[in-house]
Amino acid sequence: MTVITSHGIEGLADAMTVMVSAFDPQFGEAWTAAQCTGVLAMPGAHLLIARNAAPVGFALLRTVIDEAELMLLAVAPEARGQGIGRALLQHSIDTATTSNATSYFLEVRSDNPAIDFYERFGLRQVGVRRDYYRAGNGVRRDALTYRLSLR
Ligand SMILES: CC(C)(COP(=O)(O)OP(=O)(O)OC[C@H]1O[C@@H](n2cnc3c(N)ncnc32)[C@H](O)[C@@H]1OP(=O)(O)O)[C@@H](O)C(=O)NCCC(=O)NCCS
Repeated sequence: MTVITSHGIEGLADAMTVMVSAFDPQFGEAWTAAQCTGVLAMPGAHLLIARNAAPVGFALLRTVIDEAELMLLAVAPEARGQGIGRALLQHSIDTATTSNATSYFLEVRSDNPAIDFYERFGLRQVGVRRDYYRAGNGVRRDALTYRLSLR
């Protein structure tokens, strides 16, 4: 497995392949290609793509001055449990550090099992955004804000 970084929309098709299979539509977490394109046009945007023969995962990161935000992280369901998520998360943290960020943030649905995964990386909860995620059926769920110090 290799991780490739792109700073523009070159990796977007690969990311969207994973996006459509990775996020359960009942939670309203997946982004559209248009939403991704908007972020990728901004300074400091990094799209990390993990590939075997085909794309198997991606991370979307943005760094602004001394703060980095992981906006999306996903691994295709059939490729999970092989360390790809861990590799992408570490790669995004390394990218944030190289970009001179001192804090790394992410938001995660309050009932997402990936919380354990983030906490094992040393991320700690620093806030709550009430009703941040809105599912197709109108149900809203909180987002928890997690932070990692890169100092
Ligand atoms: C979260 C996600 C990216 C993890 O990807 P992955 O490639 O399966 O993760 P890894 O194989 O690197 O697993 C890393 C560790 O986290 C654990 N883990 C990963 N996902 C987990 C889950 N959903 N529930 C419980 N534990 C999980 C693994 O058991 C593993 O533990 P270990 O370090 O003791 O071996 C993947 O489950 C996913 O795409 N989920 C849907 C999208 C999502 O919720 N993204 C995160 C919020 S934006």
